[in-house]
Amino acid sequence: MIIIIDFGSQTTHLIARRLLEFGVKIKILHPEDSFKKINAIRPSGIILSGGPSSVYEKNAQTVDRKIFNLKIPVLGICYGLQLSSHLLGGKVISGKKEYGPAKLNINNLKTKITKGLSKFSTVWMSHGDEVVKLPKGFKIFGSTENVPFALIGNIKKNIFGLQFHPEVEHTQFGEQILRNFVEVCKATISKKSFDTSKIEENIKQIVGEEDYVIGAVSGGVDSTVAAALAAKAIGKRFVPIYVDNGLMRDGTGEHVKKIFKQIGIKPIVINAVGEMLKRLKRITNSEQKRKIIGNFYIKIFEKEMKKLLRRNLPVKYLLQGTIYSDVIESQGTKHSSKIKSHHNVGGLPKKMKLKLLEPVRDYYKDEVKIIGKKLGLPDEFINKQPFPGPGYAVRIRGEVTKRRLKMEKIADEIIQSELKKAGIYSQVFLSFPVMTNAFSTAVKGDGRQFGEVIAIRVVDSKDIMTSNWTRLPYEIMQKISSRIVNEIPGVSRVVYDITTKPPATMEWE
Ligand code: XMP
Repeated sequence: MIIIIDFGSQTTHLIARRLLEFGVKIKILHPEDSFKKINAIRPSGIILSGGPSSVYEKNAQTVDRKIFNLKIPVLGICYGLQLSSHLLGGKVISGKKEYGPAKLNINNLKTKITKGLSKFSTVWMSHGDEVVKLPKGFKIFGSTENVPFALIGNIKKNIFGLQFHPEVEHTQFGEQILRNFVEVCKATISKKSFDTSKIEENIKQIVGEEDYVIGAVSGGVDSTVAAALAAKAIGKRFVPIYVDNGLMRDGTGEHVKKIFKQIGIKPIVINAVGEMLKRLKRITNSEQKRKIIGNFYIKIFEKEMKKLLRRNLPVKYLLQGTIYSDVIESQGTKHSSKIKSHHNVGGLPKKMKLKLLEPVRDYYKDEVKIIGKKLGLPDEFINKQPFPGPGYAVRIRGEVTKRRLKMEKIADEIIQSELKKAGIYSQVFLSFPVMTNAFSTAVKGDGRQFGEVIAIRVVDSKDIMTSNWTRLPYEIMQKISSRIVNEIPGVSRVVYDITTKPPATMEWE
């Protein structure tokens, strides 16, 4: 087993995921009592995760420095590297902040930790502090332009440190570095499975022989895969509900009906367009929007539940397509900072009377797609771009009015159709416009206009935790920009978002 000590990084679970993919058993521990537990478990390796603290702060997260004397290999990642250096006699300062891609230059490709890497590669950084003095016995194996101590190690003691994140998809040789560390640890390997019948069996066991489940379905991959699993597990005791709140892409309702026809269940469709906009009136804060939408959903479900109860159907569960990245970004691990309340998770009211059933909660987006494929869902559906639960509400900065919602929808339709025409749509992870609530001058015809700025965001990603902006061909950008300013009155300007995640999230809110 390899122990991961979690200092609150947004990507601690990605480290876990990578190791699980290799087939290594893992356990995540909080720093507080980790030494005692590690001493008892005697794992084959220890990974110290990243985290939001600074080692020189008063109440910074730390571990007992005796963990370095156990003769167990240690890999420190980001904060983990800084903490190891600090505890072993090095020096850490508040350095040049760096988020996103950097070029790593390896000076020795023959060490246990650097073998199989290329001399130059791209790595992803997300830090504000840096090591400026190494502890005794440590050497530098890799540097970037801003960070001389990007990859360090004490070969004799098997203690290594990385300032960048090997666990994220965009670090080119990240997987190789982690594999190298696993090899150093001599950890035992056994494979993870995607057996859908096991998930179905689990649903059956939770729900039992009599209870009913109602499910929020949005036509998105996550909720549909969750629904298909529930339908296979408990048949007609699963009742899917689609709420048309006007914040989803046009045509979503038809799509939902079609896909559930294939699954063999007819969803209850509820029209809540007018009421949704009424509840969002004058609301500009994004967290508040998410909570209002989440609460409204739950109200609707409770009402539907009561109707079913009146028919003597014992509804006890609410099915949701919550996936692992939602969980991490909503509440994180014990020490991570909260990024936003994904309405699936953080926005749920505490007094909700239904128990949650979340069969794909432990899976990442790409894993959910694998499960969907195994269940026989069509490819065109599996490759559909994700759409956030709170829909257009989080793509409209400021108040969601009927007029701005319409503008957003037209811009969205333009982007989607131009990307489809160019054959790019299915290759990108997400593509959408943002009503920025910023205004600028335009001259349309002969008149001056002070209209809204629309930002276009197109990103590539696999597991949602990191993303890069898509290098769209200029002609397509031009076509989209011209169509948006020409076809949507009130829009003065179009800009393209070229920010990586981290630091920027994919959505603007
Ligand atoms: P971010 O903006 O967090 O987006 O980088 C990652 C993925 O999550 C989607 N997203 C949401 N989905 N409720 C959801 O169900 C939400 O509140 C929410 N916010 C973001 C986003 O579209 C992307 O696919």
